[in-house]
Amino acid sequence: MTTTADDIAKQAAGEAAARLATDGMCLGLGTGSTTAWALAALGRRVQEEGLRIRGVPTSFAAERLARRVGIPLTSLDAVERLDLALDGADEVSPALDLIKGRGAAHTREKVVAAQADRFVVLVDPSKLVDRLGTRAAVPVEVLPMATSPVMRALERLGGVPELRMGQGKDGPVVTDQGFWVVDVRFADGIDDPAELGRAIKALPGVLDHGLFLGMATEALIGRPDGTVECLRPAGTPAP
Ligand code: 5RP
Repeated sequence: MTTTADDIAKQAAGEAAARLATDGMCLGLGTGSTTAWALAALGRRVQEEGLRIRGVPTSFAAERLARRVGIPLTSLDAVERLDLALDGADEVSPALDLIKGRGAAHTREKVVAAQADRFVVLVDPSKLVDRLGTRAAVPVEVLPMATSPVMRALERLGGVPELRMGQGKDGPVVTDQGFWVVDVRFADGIDDPAELGRAIKALPGVLDHGLFLGMATEALIGRPDGTVECLRPAGTPAP
């Protein structure tokens, strides 16, 4: 298998994130190819250093990977707060506002990130944007019977919605909750992400959307040369 510059960047970000874990921490375990590097490195630290951590997975995929690499798991029923949540993103703005959900896990990812004292996003440079919505669609998780009215409402909000299909099955992608995903594109990006987020969340039948605003405390940007840069929202002190 060939290793691409993207792989090196994702691996660098993932491994830097895994070094943030310390004994006794409860961690949110994100979903996606970048976070997978972090989970693999955390698993190695558990096995080789005896690092004592527990993880709350954000998807069936993250749960299966965590079990495979040997990270002990827990749930939000058992822990009140998470020390640190690690996750990827599809877009990161200069203010560290995010679009997430290419992996259709954004609803659980948001629940987990919201419980964390520190939410660290792991990306390669291709995810950095000046304006949200210029590169990625906003995923909206919908109750299947509400899909058509929600899509019509998303058009009225200025978007171009498309029901996410396929990915190894016939028909719509089905989330871990049994919902469907509508991806909404905005031709020139999103003018007011907070207002858009509120409007989408208010639509009957919408479980949640992939706009994560004001949630990330840091972003680790892995570079193709293996270095990692840490960004924080302007004016935020280092933890
Ligand atoms: C899944 C997500 C992922 O974290 C996001 O899509 C980034 O994935 P990757 O690291 O594979 O590019 O939000 O719902």
